Amino acid sequence: MARVVLTNRLPDEAVELLVGAGHEVDGWEGAEAPSREDVLARVAGADAVVTMVTDKVDDSFLDAAGEQLRVVANVAVGYDNIDVAACRERGVVATNTPGVLVDATADTAFALVLMATRRLGEGERLIRSGQPWKWGMDFLLGMGLQGKVFGLVGPGAIGIATARRAKAFGMEIVYQGRSPMKPGAEAELGARRVDLPELLATADVVSLHCPLIPQGQPDSTYHLIDADALATMRGSAYLVNSARGPIVDEAALVEALRDGVIAGAGLDVFEDEPRVHPGLLELENVVLLPHLGSATVETRTAMATLAVRNVLGVLGGDGPLNPLGG
Ligand code: DGY
Repeated sequence: MARVVLTNRLPDEAVELLVGAGHEVDGWEGAEAPSREDVLARVAGADAVVTMVTDKVDDSFLDAAGEQLRVVANVAVGYDNIDVAACRERGVVATNTPGVLVDATADTAFALVLMATRRLGEGERLIRSGQPWKWGMDFLLGMGLQGKVFGLVGPGAIGIATARRAKAFGMEIVYQGRSPMKPGAEAELGARRVDLPELLATADVVSLHCPLIPQGQPDSTYHLIDADALATMRGSAYLVNSARGPIVDEAALVEALRDGVIAGAGLDVFEDEPRVHPGLLELENVVLLPHLGSATVETRTAMATLAVRNVLGVLGGDGPLNPLGG
């Protein structure tokens, strides 16, 4: 029997898989996410830990867990919260949950596109504020999407799924990525691969779907969208970020939105979550969501179940389904 620690609540279906396999499950019953101190105390002596994007798996986490730790299974496709090299050095397998959150996250990304370009957040806030309003020819006009250019940064599964939605709305697709799209996707979307400067200069909507690669690493995406990048975007363009907050320099984005360098933005992620730059809160031309990309019952159940299957694969000796770091 192995000891499996869950740093946050998991759907019953996922917990039952662990219990059914005969493992001791140390679950989290708190209504809110546990503090770092709670997590470090609870992981001590664990053979497996199921982590969330909010858990930093670094040397202090691995030290707190102890040498018996065999697997860290992240309930997320992004794994910038995990020091994969540190895990590997200690013989700890790290895993993620690709594939199962593609449509949910693409739906959220495209919801942000619609909310930002059609000023839906502004309209909703106006009604809730109790201020008087009436229909008018030029009241809260936004930008139509048909015939506009969708600029996809990061043509992985979620990026492609979002571009598919954009195409269904009549948009033309350009994309930038380290590698071309998977075979068939470019033709299906009628997409054209361009470099980042061309994408920024031509897109009406720039949508970010690349992983966060920290500063100093090859192909780092930290602050990929900084003041200089924003300055090269069209004044009428919108930026959507449903990937990771630090890909955008939030302070520079506040300035760009305030000064009309770009028309608007939609954000599901922030540089220092859950903190949101106070400048963003004052602006009407930005839509703000609290990291809801994969937040559907079906998707979270699939993510948790996949993470647990990764744990069972390692503990049972079959190996993980989704190992990180090659
Ligand atoms: C992910 O899977 O990376 C998401 O951000 C978690 O919701």
